[in-house]
Amino acid sequence: MTGDKIPQEKVDRILNAINLSASSLGLQPYKILVIKNKDLKQELLPAANNQPQIVECSHLLVFAAYSNLSKEHAEEFIQLQSRVKNIAPEKFSGLKNMIVRNIIPRGDETNFIWASKQAYIALGTGLIASAEEQVDSTPMEGFNSLEFDRILQLDQKGLKSLVLLALGYRDETTDQLSKGPKVRKNISDLIIKVN
Ligand SMILES: Cc1cc2nc3c(=O)[nH]c(=O)nc-3n(C[C@H](O)[C@H](O)[C@H](O)COP(=O)(O)O)c2cc1C
Repeated sequence: MTGDKIPQEKVDRILNAINLSASSLGLQPYKILVIKNKDLKQELLPAANNQPQIVECSHLLVFAAYSNLSKEHAEEFIQLQSRVKNIAPEKFSGLKNMIVRNIIPRGDETNFIWASKQAYIALGTGLIASAEEQVDSTPMEGFNSLEFDRILQLDQKGLKSLVLLALGYRDETTDQLSKGPKVRKNISDLIIKVN
């Protein structure tokens, strides 16, 4: 990436698209950290196998999922539903009971995997929204999530990092890959038509 900065309004539209992403029940059991600070990116670099996008990107997005799902999360969700829809919170008691009785007891590991899957849907939305804004992006799993969690103090926030999205502009002078063709399967090898 070139190191050039993305205009803030483009970043805001990408983040807004990510926020509009679908999630199970609309619970959004994840957060997205937005990192611009050069020193912090530099600190994260070794924990991402020194991949240059970490420091060359304009904005580094860290997708992190809830490490556990609590009654407080359920309550916060109901309050939001109530406020936005202008309906008394008591009316959502069935929904709240479902989360508290059926979802939370599944345990932290199951709920973290569930939350992670949903965060990846938001990641996909971020990829498409970036392309729409003519912003280049690299999704990145090549990093040590425990190290990221430590540096970003995610444990204290009840989060675990999952995947990164580096936003910036491709460097066409030095990055030969940027000029290459998209290597994808033939559509007929991807799609199985079931009649
Ligand atoms: C979940 C996921 C993890 C990825 N991790 C990395 C990564 O750590 N570093 C990197 O340079 N690219 C990473 N990529 C990008 C892929 O390597 C890239 O999408 C693939 O090579 C195809 O390239 P293209 O999308 O530019 O055609 C990742 C992509 C996905 C979806």
